[in-house]
Amino acid sequence: MSDQKRFTITAALPYTNGPVHIGHLAGVYVPADIFARYQRMKGSDVAFICGSDEHGVPITIKAKKEGITPQELVNRYHKIIGDSFREFGISFDNYSRTSAPIHHETASAFFTKLYKEGKFIEQVTEQLYDPEADQFLADRFVVGTCPKCGNTESYGDQCEKCGTSHNGTDLIDPKSAITGNTPVLKETKHWFLPLDQYSEWLNEWIVEGHAKDWKTNVLGQVKSWITDGLHPRAVTRDLDWGIPVPVEGADAKVLYVWFDAPIGYISATKEWAAREGKNWEDYWKNEDTSLLHFIGKDNIVFHCIIFPAMLKAHGEYILPENVPANEFLNLEDDKISTSRNWAVWLHEYLQDFPDQQDVLRYVLTANAPETKDNNFTWKDFQARNNNELVANLGNFVNRVIVLTNKYYEGVVPETMELTERDQKVLDQIKSFPQSIGDSLDRFRFREALQDLMNLSSIGNKYIAEEGLEPWKLIKTNPEQVQNIMYVCLQLTTALAILSEPFLPHTSNKLKKILGYSALDAESAGWDRVASSEPLLPSGHKINASELLFSKIEDEQIQAQLDQLEATKAANAATISDLMPQKEETNYEDFMKMDLRVGEILTAEKMPKTDKLMVMTVDTGIDKRTIVSGIAKHYTAEELVGRKVTVLANLAPRKLRGVESQGMILLAEDPEGKLVFVNPDDAVVNGSTIA
Ligand code: MF3
Ligand code: ZN
Repeated sequence: MSDQKRFTITAALPYTNGPVHIGHLAGVYVPADIFARYQRMKGSDVAFICGSDEHGVPITIKAKKEGITPQELVNRYHKIIGDSFREFGISFDNYSRTSAPIHHETASAFFTKLYKEGKFIEQVTEQLYDPEADQFLADRFVVGTCPKCGNTESYGDQCEKCGTSHNGTDLIDPKSAITGNTPVLKETKHWFLPLDQYSEWLNEWIVEGHAKDWKTNVLGQVKSWITDGLHPRAVTRDLDWGIPVPVEGADAKVLYVWFDAPIGYISATKEWAAREGKNWEDYWKNEDTSLLHFIGKDNIVFHCIIFPAMLKAHGEYILPENVPANEFLNLEDDKISTSRNWAVWLHEYLQDFPDQQDVLRYVLTANAPETKDNNFTWKDFQARNNNELVANLGNFVNRVIVLTNKYYEGVVPETMELTERDQKVLDQIKSFPQSIGDSLDRFRFREALQDLMNLSSIGNKYIAEEGLEPWKLIKTNPEQVQNIMYVCLQLTTALAILSEPFLPHTSNKLKKILGYSALDAESAGWDRVASSEPLLPSGHKINASELLFSKIEDEQIQAQLDQLEATKAANAATISDLMPQKEETNYEDFMKMDLRVGEILTAEKMPKTDKLMVMTVDTGIDKRTIVSGIAKHYTAEELVGRKVTVLANLAPRKLRGVESQGMILLAEDPEGKLVFVNPDDAVVNGSTIA
């Protein structure tokens, strides 16, 4: 095929310091897989590439904690992750790993070329060093306050709260993650990629060149990075786990994990091409190839700024055509967290819901955090399965298969003269490859899935129309039923074909039931649905019915919720998370505080902030304005009328131009959730507290 398109589709290499969870799946792997499968069905030449990201500090920290070597740790998770992806049906052409020799060679050669061509700045700088551990504190070995957002638990390389990436020395009040000590500065030599020199080019290429086709969340981050000013970034580290820096005298140094990992896409392509007898360069050096990076929002800077600058510096590679990054998925209204074990782990899901991969794929796509953070709840999971997959898609298909077997011994009937209504449905079916495809081409996976479900709804409506139900009509007008069943079988086949990218296991099952497996992949392609040939010709014999989906019971959902509840309890019990007791105070000092019962009369969010709430509080002695940072935790409606504890004699201070005359007392749990310290409703305003 001459107009065959070529795609190199990459999915972020997962870190092998833990298994994969639903947040990873919804943000990266499910959309990437849908896209790759869709393009294969369109006849495109696809390399869908991923692998384990096995370097970086968190891996060494975790290995140390468990008393094993980093290699042992990554071996464990490489297997768990790889196996669970396979079972889940993520159709990587290659799932490689960055500890593979081919990757070490590729990354080393990449660095060497840039080094030799003078693309790096070589510089001796002072870096954070922990004398007790006798170690430089690269990246996550140091924790401190983020200079941008004030998060007190920012890592040396990146703040997970605001997404900023910075240098360890930028942190305020840094502490060693190994010993807890305050680090000292010590000189060391490193190589820096002068990102500032790429700023103009990046601006032209992305901000101007891709203003229309890249997602707004991605463009937004890129713009703000460029406007804030790009700085040289160190691409080497003083560590002993990673790819040795291929420069003489750099023995104790390795490549920065974010330098080597994206090159992993290239190494993994090489490995695959060698195996398949292809030329890897077609996928990385040919301008006709579309390079796409599927990632989560925390990876935007690396894929839109740093890696492209590396590729540009190298000079032989194509650049990404798009980076359709997603936002984050929360779980039951709480941020997914590996360290707090607040997640649904893929390998555990596969055990708890065997053969129900597609239910999770469906729910994660229907709820994908495409434009904003989104929430996964087990109740929604159950409802979507029972009301959408079972009641819509499953129900339609099952009726069609059962009736075909019952009326025609499984043989697709001949058509008599088709009514306008029959013809209309046949025509509608043909429009779906185009409309679903249009959504997928624009990375709108939710919309595409919704469209697929609309096709099934069309089928359901068609057979349930008053007076035209086949099971009623069969006695009075069997010829018309032949038409209806013929049309339904075409629609079912269209569903079998078009569902493949989204629900591959279901699609396979359905193709088997339809006896469609005999047809080769080419003819089962995407655009075949739009052709004038029947999808399932009269006379073709189908197989017995099998349920595509089954109802998920309350008990199964409760079991999952109970498990999360247990996690919550376990987390709350971790005393180390609680604030240590403050310094001793005395009675006199405490009694200086004028604590009173008050009542919130009005509340209004401070414009242009997401945290501050401006309230009028009745303190019994007066009515005054108090500003408090609770807008993320309570809405104005929830506040009005509430009794609160007020520190009345706190010196007034201005917040964003509004004077706050006092403070409302709040309890803050280890996870930062704020709750009122509530006096009983019966206490009159102004009552003192001591
Ligand atoms: N391991 C990184 C993460 O999980 C992603 C690496 S993507 C790559 O956030 F480009 F570096 F490979
Ligand atoms: Zn921050």
